[in-house]
Amino acid sequence: MVTSHRSRVVVVGTGSVGSAVSSAIVLQGLCDELVLVNHNPDKAKGLAMDLMDGAEFIGRFVSIRQGDWSDCRDADIVIVTAGPKPKPGETRFQELGAAIDIVDPILCAIRDSGFDGILIMVSNPVDVLSWFAWRRTGLPRAQVLGSGTALDTSRMKTIIGEITRLDPRMVSGYVIGEHGESQFVPWSTVSFIGKSLTRYLEDNRERYEGITLEGIEERTRERGMAIKALRGGTSQGIAATVAGLTRTILWNERRVIPVSTLIDGEYEYDEHDVFLSLPVALDADGVGDFVDLHLTGDELVRFHESARIVREHCALIAD
Ligand code: 2OP
Repeated sequence: MVTSHRSRVVVVGTGSVGSAVSSAIVLQGLCDELVLVNHNPDKAKGLAMDLMDGAEFIGRFVSIRQGDWSDCRDADIVIVTAGPKPKPGETRFQELGAAIDIVDPILCAIRDSGFDGILIMVSNPVDVLSWFAWRRTGLPRAQVLGSGTALDTSRMKTIIGEITRLDPRMVSGYVIGEHGESQFVPWSTVSFIGKSLTRYLEDNRERYEGITLEGIEERTRERGMAIKALRGGTSQGIAATVAGLTRTILWNERRVIPVSTLIDGEYEYDEHDVFLSLPVALDADGVGDFVDLHLTGDELVRFHESARIVREHCALIAD
């Protein structure tokens, strides 16, 4: 008899982000079983049927069904995407009050199920909600993370790829801090085809006239809101990002990705009790080793400013 562990991922929330995340996970065949939970069970059931209907043409069979909180107990990963419908022009922080009302009972239900896997928060404002989730569930810090600036990092690479017309995956480096306005790129960490990006742009000054690091950073920061203005919200980029996190955790890849994680005195970051994105090694146990980026003095100032802003919003919901 085959008794090997069947990997299970639970996606909570089946709106546009939850649907896109589920689809990315299924199309990549990342787990054995995908369970969908929504406050309206019909929506989850309908999405499960819709996704199952592609089974014939998907590389690997994934069992997909609508479920409930009891399915979290044996899950390897629970992904929380539920949140208020995005309103045009509203910032991620403006969604906080409505998001807490939705996410708090979800987190209590996940905790009460006896879940002991890796919790990935996607709902915004993701840094504040990840901190809240860590406190609410009582899970060890390694087991709670937010998608954070993993998406912004991919956006930064995409923009550099668009400018240079080279594969974005040739860029190495990170966007760190808050998944929001105070995020920033520590350019001292960014390299491209074997040299620093600064050096690459200098070497090709004529071709990239007018292109600045500040401009790339600004486009990266504003990309989410730009997409929201065009189509009412984002879903595909975040879905690919969350599928990437799911893969590195479930498959124990130990990829280094910037995710929102509890900062507690690591290296020179010198912050405590706040969730912000920094590059960490991700594996089946969740958040592992931090990378010491050796930030410059100016970069550290920006990191502390991100921490201040996130902490200020956490104070509004602390109980
Ligand atoms: C994004 O950046 C809105 O946080 C969402 O795509």
